[in-house]
Amino acid sequence: MVAASAPGKLILYGEHAVVFGEPALSVAISKRTRVVTQPGERTEVNGHPLQEGRYPYVAEALRATKRDEPLSVTTESDIPMAAGMGSSAAVTVGLLACLQGARGRLQEEEIARMGFEVEHAVQGRASPIDTTTATHGGGILLLRHREENFLWRIEKGATRWNLHGAPLPEMTFVVGTTGIEAATGPLVAQVKRRVETQPGARKAVERIGEIALEGVDALRRGNLERGGELMLENHRLLNTLGVGHVALDKLVAASLPLSFGAKLTGAGGGGSMIALTNDPLGVTQALKRAGGSAFAVSTVPTGVQLERRS
Ligand code: MEV
Repeated sequence: MVAASAPGKLILYGEHAVVFGEPALSVAISKRTRVVTQPGERTEVNGHPLQEGRYPYVAEALRATKRDEPLSVTTESDIPMAAGMGSSAAVTVGLLACLQGARGRLQEEEIARMGFEVEHAVQGRASPIDTTTATHGGGILLLRHREENFLWRIEKGATRWNLHGAPLPEMTFVVGTTGIEAATGPLVAQVKRRVETQPGARKAVERIGEIALEGVDALRRGNLERGGELMLENHRLLNTLGVGHVALDKLVAASLPLSFGAKLTGAGGGGSMIALTNDPLGVTQALKRAGGSAFAVSTVPTGVQLERRS
């Protein structure tokens, strides 16, 4: 039996634009998914025979690792599903860690690379932001060029991402979830169509990349006011790309009187928003009054971890 766990993530700036190679910043959070694997009589997930449609990331990860022997996979998570918080990446990375951990020590770079390939295959298009954050933990900054705190470089077709650790002060975010689940693949495809046909959408993607650079600089200096302002600008640009939702706008508006700024996080189309605040209790209550579920999370340095091998 092998057990591993991986954290969820919040994208602070740059979702969607990062798929085009623009800069983006994400952080690992204090919510995790635990995956347990053991040899079985048939390949199954949580007691059900593995069905591609139901567990696409597990099916793809087993295919990618050319795993033939039957395997029983159990997942346990406190990351809400399809809510923009990296639940799929955490399952993928946790499972890859179990498969690798059965053979020896964890190789983070290999897990992040394979995790990205799995997400790319399932979604049709993707960036390595979710899987690298689930693997490495802490703050992750994706840049076009290599800079200080470089981790590794990943390429797909003509797009290149240089992944970096991003040392940031510990921050508290309140996550507001709409309860509306939205699959990432179709949203990513929709943004691609817009960018290819509308010059305004291309400009929005480029500005989001600039926001990510300005945002990481502000947060590193502890300038939460500027960091929050940039989050809000990023949110409005994501709306112009068509990945917003009225329920998200409502939660963002409800959080603003008590926060530095707020935005949708992840693929959008429903899912979640985040607010950067030093009054987590007040914002949580405000979001609940506005009809969302809400909880506070903190940023954590811990990435994927092997928990047990026997
Ligand atoms: C999803 O968490 C983030 C997106 O940018 C997709 C990706 O980067 O793969 C929407």
